[in-house]
Amino acid sequence: MDTQSFDEWDEQHAPERAGDTDFDGVMSRRLFLRGSATLGAAAFVMTAGLAPKPAMAASKAGFTFSPIAANVADTVTVPDGFSTQIVVRWGDPMNSATPAFDHASRGTAKSQAQAVGDNNDGMDLFEVEGRTVLVFNNEYTNRSITFGNRDSKLPETDDDVNKGKMAHGLTLVEVTERNSQWQVVMDSPLNRRVTPDTAFEVVGPARGSDLLKTSADKAGTRVLGTFNNCGNGRTPWGTYLACEENFNGYFSASQGEGFVQTDAQKRYGIASGGKDWGYAWAQTDSRFDVSAEPNEPHRHGWVVEVDPAGRRQPVKLTALGRFKHENAEVVLSNDGHAVVYLGDDERGEFLYRFVSRDTYVEGGDNSALLHHGELFAAKFHDDGRGEWLNLKDAGMQDDETLVFARMAASRVGATTMDRPEWVAANPHKTEAYVALTNNKYRGERDSQPLNAANPRTKNPYGHIVRWAPEQADHGSDAFTWDVYAMAGNPTLHSDLMGGSSNITPDNMFNSPDGLKFDAAGNLWIQTDGNYSNEKGFAGMGNNQMLMGDPETGEIHRFMVGPKECEITGLTWSPDRKTMFVGIQHPGEKGGSHWPEGGDAVPRSAIVAVKRNDGGIIG
Ligand code: FEO
Ligand code: CA
Ligand code: CA
Ligand code: CA
Repeated sequence: MDTQSFDEWDEQHAPERAGDTDFDGVMSRRLFLRGSATLGAAAFVMTAGLAPKPAMAASKAGFTFSPIAANVADTVTVPDGFSTQIVVRWGDPMNSATPAFDHASRGTAKSQAQAVGDNNDGMDLFEVEGRTVLVFNNEYTNRSITFGNRDSKLPETDDDVNKGKMAHGLTLVEVTERNSQWQVVMDSPLNRRVTPDTAFEVVGPARGSDLLKTSADKAGTRVLGTFNNCGNGRTPWGTYLACEENFNGYFSASQGEGFVQTDAQKRYGIASGGKDWGYAWAQTDSRFDVSAEPNEPHRHGWVVEVDPAGRRQPVKLTALGRFKHENAEVVLSNDGHAVVYLGDDERGEFLYRFVSRDTYVEGGDNSALLHHGELFAAKFHDDGRGEWLNLKDAGMQDDETLVFARMAASRVGATTMDRPEWVAANPHKTEAYVALTNNKYRGERDSQPLNAANPRTKNPYGHIVRWAPEQADHGSDAFTWDVYAMAGNPTLHSDLMGGSSNITPDNMFNSPDGLKFDAAGNLWIQTDGNYSNEKGFAGMGNNQMLMGDPETGEIHRFMVGPKECEITGLTWSPDRKTMFVGIQHPGEKGGSHWPEGGDAVPRSAIVAVKRNDGGIIG
């Protein structure tokens, strides 16, 4: 167990989907051949062609770089002309009363509650009264590392359990740049943690629902905590959205193996076999025992909204639905409604869109804009058209539709997808991209047949699909779509497994996950994939970050991470001269000592990347 990656753990515990429907036809394997453009009217593989490798990649921000080769080094590699520095690491104290990270004990519950959380993921930077606040998610803990001081490599004492719990949630730290180096402002009043014990107000249609009531909250309006926050979002009104993903892995049942899941618990993977995923939170907090509190899992799996300044209480946004949220990409429709694109990262789950009831008011109070609206799931037709299906047509009660959004989306006939990860909207064109990371069940399970948008059996490498809403309006219910990139290994395969024509031996990668556009319109692609560098993945090296051109389809490798890490989370300083990149779970299988080296415990960290000439980088 202790050498499994999180994805492997998740996969072992992935629920067999119950009660879903997929009306997509099985598409012919003859279509979609490498380099061809034969997928009907609009769905096509990019035809950038196998042009000779350019010596320099040019970004839309005007800077150039020499794309780097894949590698398996235990370091962060960037092109010549760029440099990196560590900004924050797991366990770094945020105030002078908290001790520095102790590599022997890996901290205590008390120290962890006052220190940077573990496994940084989605992030954004905010200006608060002239100060700069970096806000980031702390998705989970690597049990074999956090509890590496224990023989079992799992939490043993109550303090161990609570230490792990306090490593989850969000970290907010004031940062400043001194002598060209970014650093945390110790003891800043803006430094704080949001943890699995922080109080949240429930807002939106499911507030007060019977499904949300527990013995500690008989009104169903107030929830303690957020955890397993994966990707994020940023609203035009300056708040931070954190997305609760694998929340199911924290619940166990005191009945143990005698615990029988309901259909809904099966669909959401709650307490399979009566067990959690090794966090043991029920040991110190009985609400994580579903035998005692069957509704507690309904209170998690939402998108939460947090004020970086800490003036407003954080809220759980029930209108955006409950599933394994990846990120929340916020745009405005042409008539001012907030539109939020949302992925549900599980094999065969769906892509969603929320459209607010009310409209954005520039300079006004938009704090309730995400409280009410309509939720849709995507249907990708094989002819390159698509539509957003309104979940209200599922024929369920309003609160059920949101709490069990997966079931509602199945009922309306949405298209099962290959694990939707981040969605990114192009700031210069009305289009959005979703990373479909991989899916070993595609074409293998009856509930997940091949379709044009998910065309590859077992999809080991993943792909990126994009859509353009009709009338160039994110509020339109119809869109056209195509495949931006089909990852693959062209050194081994000449069929679909070789990838689309914009994938070459020089830029190949697998399992796209993080996606974000910079201000200039470059699409940055981060990977969370197989880093074995063997067999089908030979030549891909460690996880990486690449820059894609949305028009030409060209993709260039910009960064390679240390061993066994994932690269996830990306933002920029207001002057666009620093790019902040997240390095998550280096050494998750015991093979890294990054960033400190030697015998050090590997630690997730955020790095700042700059151009040596001080120019803009995004
Ligand atoms: Fe936390 Fe889907 O990645
Ligand atoms: Ca992710
Ligand atoms: Ca992933
Ligand atoms: Ca991750």
